[in-house]
Amino acid sequence: MRTVIRGIGSYLPERVMTNADLSAIVDTSDAWIRERTGISQRHIVAEGQFTSDLGYEAAKAALNHAGLSANDIDLIVVATSTPDLTFPATATIIQEKLGIHHGAAFDLQAVCSGFIYGVHVTNALLKAGTAKRALLIGAETFSRILDWEDRGTCVLFGDGAGAVVLEAVEEETESGILQTYVRSDGRHRDMLYVDGGPSRTQTVGHLRMLGNQVFKHAVKDIAQVMLDCAEQAGVDVTDVDWFVPHQANQRILNGVARRLKLRPEQVISTVANHANTSAASVPLAMDVAVKDGRIKKGDLVMLEAFGGGFTWGAALLRY
Ligand code: UT7
Repeated sequence: MRTVIRGIGSYLPERVMTNADLSAIVDTSDAWIRERTGISQRHIVAEGQFTSDLGYEAAKAALNHAGLSANDIDLIVVATSTPDLTFPATATIIQEKLGIHHGAAFDLQAVCSGFIYGVHVTNALLKAGTAKRALLIGAETFSRILDWEDRGTCVLFGDGAGAVVLEAVEEETESGILQTYVRSDGRHRDMLYVDGGPSRTQTVGHLRMLGNQVFKHAVKDIAQVMLDCAEQAGVDVTDVDWFVPHQANQRILNGVARRLKLRPEQVISTVANHANTSAASVPLAMDVAVKDGRIKKGDLVMLEAFGGGFTWGAALLRY
């Protein structure tokens, strides 16, 4: 059994917020944000637009790219830390929007690593034969959990969604998910967290981060997990064609690339236009590189992410 990617799609809300827009709200500047993060703009949801709406649009785009219809899907996994509601799962809301009444749907929460965890879990479920075709969606509305008075965090994030259609195939194929490797370490939870939740505060809370400390862990752990993932697959990291990283900060992308001696042009970067969309960032970036023709059938692609928890991980696949 091998899990292959049948289609990919994404969705960004219409409204664009530039660095100049932000400098009217908090004490920041376009120059600071660009220099320290590489971000120039982010997309922000409209009033009344929810994570499920973004995920639904990305799912439709992925199904369209795959040439499949919603009825062909028997599993929906949504990676998100900004669900519409505490429950039911955003996945079941998207399932209903798609008109699917069979199979199963659930949410998965690993913050910015959610999509990589999603690849790990969905791949295992498909290979075990529990479902035939899955929609794996990363969808977030981080604008709803930002403290818009904290310049250290509110400039970093944006909203969006990305989705892939994954299918279990039995025939011999070079394509598909070759290896996944996920990690976590709860000792660092206070460096990146949300200060609210249903059980502890009965509020949604706001994102809090010790940015410069997270930065150091991110560069080191991302580089290591990619090396480990490649080694487990019996692949040399220098043989990978494309790297699709979590889009938190251009300086993190550059730092990891330097450590692993990657060519900058191999690293897909959308951070300038999307900012950090948490679990949506990897499928959003991959969709851009597939649709503009950089990632082609047969290319070896490494996905990676790092986020709150800490959680981190990598996935190696042949597109
Ligand atoms: O997705 C999950 C993973 N998340 C990440 O990976 C984020 C990782 N961290 C980062 O991307 C960076 O650490 C930041 C972009 C958050 C911050 O960059 P930095 O180079 O680490 O800056 P810093 O936190 O050390 O702050 C430097 C200065 C401080 O001023 P003083 O104390 O030197 O006077 C901050 O108050 O920059 C100040 N500062 C700002 N100035 C203008 C912080 N935020 C801003 C801002 N505009 N938006």
